[in-house]
Amino acid sequence: MSNRTLAIIKPDAVKKNVCGKIIAMMEEAGFKVVAMKKTRLTKAVAGAFYEVHKERPFYGELVDFMCSGPVVPIILEKENAVADYRTLIGATDPAEAEEGTIRKLYADSKGENAVHGSDSDENAAIESNFFFSRQDQVNLA
Ligand code: RTP
Ligand code: MG
Repeated sequence: MSNRTLAIIKPDAVKKNVCGKIIAMMEEAGFKVVAMKKTRLTKAVAGAFYEVHKERPFYGELVDFMCSGPVVPIILEKENAVADYRTLIGATDPAEAEEGTIRKLYADSKGENAVHGSDSDENAAIESNFFFSRQDQVNLA
């Protein structure tokens, strides 16, 4: 069954001007772009998006980083979207990411790691609603 995941091209990758290359990798891996925009997060919005990590030691750094420049949130659709997209992006730490993954190619560190990907179907829906209206998410088929 075709389903969706929420990707974000993070500020480090936007600054490197590699959004097009990253989106091409998504398309070459079989994902369809359902919705996409460029935006900039305030501290409050980034803090709310990563609220699940609020007790983690890297939370403050993560929120500051996500506000440090524009981001590109994207809803992607494909069969097995959540798991297949996480395979495409690679491990959180680029030093541990497989060759050919987005993070291996474009991430600098575990914190500044180029892209986000939802970790479950449930969170994909929550995160998609965080950035996009219902109209933005209509079925395009
Ligand atoms: P994401 O949510 O961004 O797709 O990344 P992930 O599932 O691979 O990693 P997660 O554990 O959910 O962590 C969220 C983001 O927090 C930053 N982080 N920094 N310095 C550190 O030890 C550390 N650990 C995590 C990364 O930006 C990570 O993507
Ligand atoms: Mg995560």
